[in-house]
Amino acid sequence: MDTLQNEIEDQFRPINTDFLQAEGDEVFDIYYKSSVFGSQEFVKFASSHPSHQNKVRQLIDSGEYTEFFILQDDLIKYYHQATEQLRTLISDPAIPLLDKTQKLYDVSKDIMKNFFEFSASEKVLHSSEDVMGLMDQCLSEGQARFSTLSQIMNKNYCIYTHSLNVGLYCLVYGINDKMSATDIRSLGLGGMLHDIGKAKMDASLLKKNSSLTKEEMKIIETHPSLGQEIMESMQCYTTSIVRMAGQHHENYKGRGYPNALKGNEISLFARICKVMDVYDNLTTHRPYKKAVTPFEALILMKNQMTDELDPNILGKFIRYMGPGSH
Ligand SMILES: [Fe+2]
Ligand SMILES: [Fe+2]
Repeated sequence: MDTLQNEIEDQFRPINTDFLQAEGDEVFDIYYKSSVFGSQEFVKFASSHPSHQNKVRQLIDSGEYTEFFILQDDLIKYYHQATEQLRTLISDPAIPLLDKTQKLYDVSKDIMKNFFEFSASEKVLHSSEDVMGLMDQCLSEGQARFSTLSQIMNKNYCIYTHSLNVGLYCLVYGINDKMSATDIRSLGLGGMLHDIGKAKMDASLLKKNSSLTKEEMKIIETHPSLGQEIMESMQCYTTSIVRMAGQHHENYKGRGYPNALKGNEISLFARICKVMDVYDNLTTHRPYKKAVTPFEALILMKNQMTDELDPNILGKFIRYMGPGSH
């Protein structure tokens, strides 16, 4: 594909047509991709305006085109519409909890993917915040269990699913720990954004299919400070959330990075995030590393990671993961 074609492709993002039925007042154009004289073109055929609904539905039903696109700049409007539909969906008692959480997970995954892989504006993260709020509502009402999460999560490593998984583990930990509603939301959101600094790194480094060299490790290790900087510059996150990005690679007994903090010098939320980060990394499959089972991961964390993890948090996490608990 030539550069010009690449540039055009980069301006468009695929969308999920399930979310086109809302009566949103934020209108955006919808495109399909067509092949003209051997090259791909994006053709505008309708907008999301309610008066175009029939046209959109007919084209989807015709099966002539299976993928639809919007301009990258309209992502925020689209996610806003999607979130409103999800809000209606989760308030429907007839829909099983698992289906609701799966839908929320998929939309959130899509948002994070656009942020991490297609450099969507940081504003798109606010949509993720909304979806995380709905996830909290859904899981709190439905008696949150870690086992529910294991049924919906994608456990093949990529940066955006990892971010989301850590956010959800944090959220469910907070619910089980009976934290305040505000703290549960902050913990979930901070978990989801803990690796935000990696968004500024070379994608090839993040996608590397083998272990990293020393030099590459050095670059990766700047992500907590970078993440903290990004969040501070956005000026909309509380200190507890910002610290999760900045301190989640500190070790409980010291010698972590970037500041070799110890024990309670590391914020509580960052210590929780660390446990969830390690757990997701161990239980996730990578091309050069097999995933271990949840049980093996907990044993390994308890026996071999005492320098790194807060024993109190790990103890609670193991309890919450156990049978019979929420
Ligand atoms: Fe990290
Ligand atoms: Fe991480």
